[in-house]
Amino acid sequence: MSIFKSIDLTKCPEHIAIIMDGNGRWAKQQGEMRLFGHTYGVEAVREVLKACVELGVKYLTLYAFSTENWNRPKEEVDGLMNLLVDTIANEVDELNENGVRLHSIGDENQLPEACNHELNIAKKATEHNTKVNLILALNYSARWEILNAVKEIAQKVKSGELKPNEIQENDFCSALSMPGFPDPELMIRTSGEYRLSNFLLWQIAYSELYFTDKLWPDFKKEDLFEAVLDFQSRERRFGLVSEQLK
Ligand code: IPE
Ligand code: IPE
Ligand code: MG
Repeated sequence: MSIFKSIDLTKCPEHIAIIMDGNGRWAKQQGEMRLFGHTYGVEAVREVLKACVELGVKYLTLYAFSTENWNRPKEEVDGLMNLLVDTIANEVDELNENGVRLHSIGDENQLPEACNHELNIAKKATEHNTKVNLILALNYSARWEILNAVKEIAQKVKSGELKPNEIQENDFCSALSMPGFPDPELMIRTSGEYRLSNFLLWQIAYSELYFTDKLWPDFKKEDLFEAVLDFQSRERRFGLVSEQLK
């Protein structure tokens, strides 16, 4: 029986963020090159997207390439960029069929021209979809994002638009990459690693964290359902005591 039936659809997270990790180890287990793992990882993305549609999850942010990942062997970086370009181009029809709108966060300036080109086409082609917002973190790191926000705020202070002692949390959020999107209530990392690797440090201040040993290419719809079910078993207290929540 699917775990889906045990999920309370009225209490699903609105925003799920995932650190998709373990492609390289998965490929190694199969006796294949690392890129083979990345290619198979795309199937897992399709799975979680469908699961989000079924659950009514409105925002899904996927960590696809970090600013640190440029330091990998050139062959892997080139392969990943080509895979990105091909995948974005090939998936537009399916995104539209599922009502998925594509967004991206991260430093676009260093991404290959072909990647930005396909991204822009796909964003435009999906801009009217409303079921799920898929946010790809590409050449992203949280410190890059936070530093950018600081620069933007500093400019506003310099121009007199903002006073230093009047800066509110909202001003800062507006300068981050996902203004208007809710913070993720649930953050998942696959592959048995227990770290954040520079992902959404500001936005996950109060997220529930879920770690699984599953390697990303093995992650299926049922695995997302399991994570959501686990999320629903948690008591989110936000600093209060249990009795105050009743
Ligand atoms: C995650 O899988 C994908 C990216 C970082 C692009 P990895 O490539 O990090 O896989 P492992 O961690 O080496 O197994
Ligand atoms: C984090 O995975 C980045 C992505 C999933 C894109 P990494 O595999 O790069 O993280 P570390 O190096 O193990 O921290
Ligand atoms: Mg990894």
